[in-house]
Amino acid sequence: MTPETPQKKVFIRTHGCQMNVYDSGRMADVLARDYATTDTPDDADLILLNTCHIREKASEKVYTELGLLRQFKDRGAAEGRTVTIGVTGCVAQAEGEEIARRARTVDLVVGPQSYQRLPEIVRAASGRRAPVEADFAAEEKFAALRETPPRKRGEVAAFLTVQEGCDKFCTFCVVPYTRGAEYSRPAPDLIVEATRLAEAGVRELTLLGQNVNAWHGEGPDGSPWGLARLLFRLAEIPGILRLRYTTSHPRDMDDALIAAHRDLPQLMPYLHLPVQAGSDRILRAMNRKHGVSDYLHLVDRIRAARPDMALSGDFIVGFPGETEADFAETLRLVETVTYASAFTFKYSPRPGTPAASLEQVPEDVKNERLYRLQALIAAQQAAFNRSRLGMEMDVLFDRPGKRPGQIAGRSPWQQTVHVPATPDIIGSVRRVAIDTIGTNTLSGVLADARVFEEAV
Ligand code: SAH
Ligand code: SF4
Ligand code: F3S
Repeated sequence: MTPETPQKKVFIRTHGCQMNVYDSGRMADVLARDYATTDTPDDADLILLNTCHIREKASEKVYTELGLLRQFKDRGAAEGRTVTIGVTGCVAQAEGEEIARRARTVDLVVGPQSYQRLPEIVRAASGRRAPVEADFAAEEKFAALRETPPRKRGEVAAFLTVQEGCDKFCTFCVVPYTRGAEYSRPAPDLIVEATRLAEAGVRELTLLGQNVNAWHGEGPDGSPWGLARLLFRLAEIPGILRLRYTTSHPRDMDDALIAAHRDLPQLMPYLHLPVQAGSDRILRAMNRKHGVSDYLHLVDRIRAARPDMALSGDFIVGFPGETEADFAETLRLVETVTYASAFTFKYSPRPGTPAASLEQVPEDVKNERLYRLQALIAAQQAAFNRSRLGMEMDVLFDRPGKRPGQIAGRSPWQQTVHVPATPDIIGSVRRVAIDTIGTNTLSGVLADARVFEEAV
């Protein structure tokens, strides 16, 4: 029996973190029987906005976008077509009722743990208003998604959510409220999904979780497994050449995981390890559950295990009560650690979180601190990129480059690398000699091609 191509089309717009990117892919998978995906809202019968609630700006974007999407609904109606509009993701979870009230364009609102029910919710909603689905049931979600194999998308690098939710309750953060309690997906399900991805051509897997290194499960013999054991097992899957994981909490970096960076060659030497701030006083007020010296000591141990390890991080400036002296300590921490890259944010008060009710740092002070921190990090990033000049490194090629005759890939440290080559190298890891450092990318030549040219 050949599967029929669905007539109807779904357009999914994704905001927020990589977990939303993963979820959007899985939503397309569960809807595949009824809907083909399209990359424009113009011809879509179903439009889904997969939203992020982390900062005010991200959250407010939903209402602006819904206003813009109204025209597609109106145009569809004029052509005699029903266009269904849905809001999914973390804003759906946090503000479901309000969205349904404020935005009359919306036909359905579905929180991150109910995506397995999308086909029936969409069917029920087409043409009329549907109820808000915002249950917390991570186990049910993933159990149901297990029955839906990911479709072939021709990707070389893919995400795999292994853990969802958070019990840490940092005082600035909405994630424990939007994604619910920490939940680890069972190891056998992850091995099956990773194997299917590898069979579909995926060569690099990035394991995802809000606290990915808190993942825990059971091995086939019933023994307790942590993330390190899972990584070793996934590395055995034929076709999987590279592994990464994100985002880690410093408190959950255990000895086995640090050792995996020394002993597992497939595990890439790049780690996103957010610290948020460099002052013990602020870290305590944030409820991060560790101090500055704990973090610095951890970084030393990781670098001892893997000397070429590059770090990235997240920073918040202008958390309530942050003084100039506290901020100077953040700058000092950044200088001590040296990052290959980092995300920097102005503190954004979020409804329902403890820090939102504290006295706020003025906006101009936040702007000024953000500017100084970004300048320091940009300089570190540029220095890190420059340090790759003349180096030979393994690059996983995953797509055509911007210019004709170019193929692009990723370095072990997440940098984009361009080489002149033919598309047959896509999907393979090749040795590259880096000869040019751009603002955001590196360029070079295939080391084996260069040897060949030198030989003739
Ligand atoms: N679980 C991860 C982070 C998830 S949120 C961790 O614990 O590190 C991603 C980043 O958004 C956070 O690391 C933080 O830097 C930023 N962030 C979260 N809430 C924020 C807020 N209210 N204002 C500004 N930035 C915030
Ligand atoms: Fe948010 Fe903190 Fe949990 Fe990260 S650890 S998701 S910052 S509450
Ligand atoms: Fe945003 Fe939700 Fe991710 S709030 S950062 S989409 S977990």
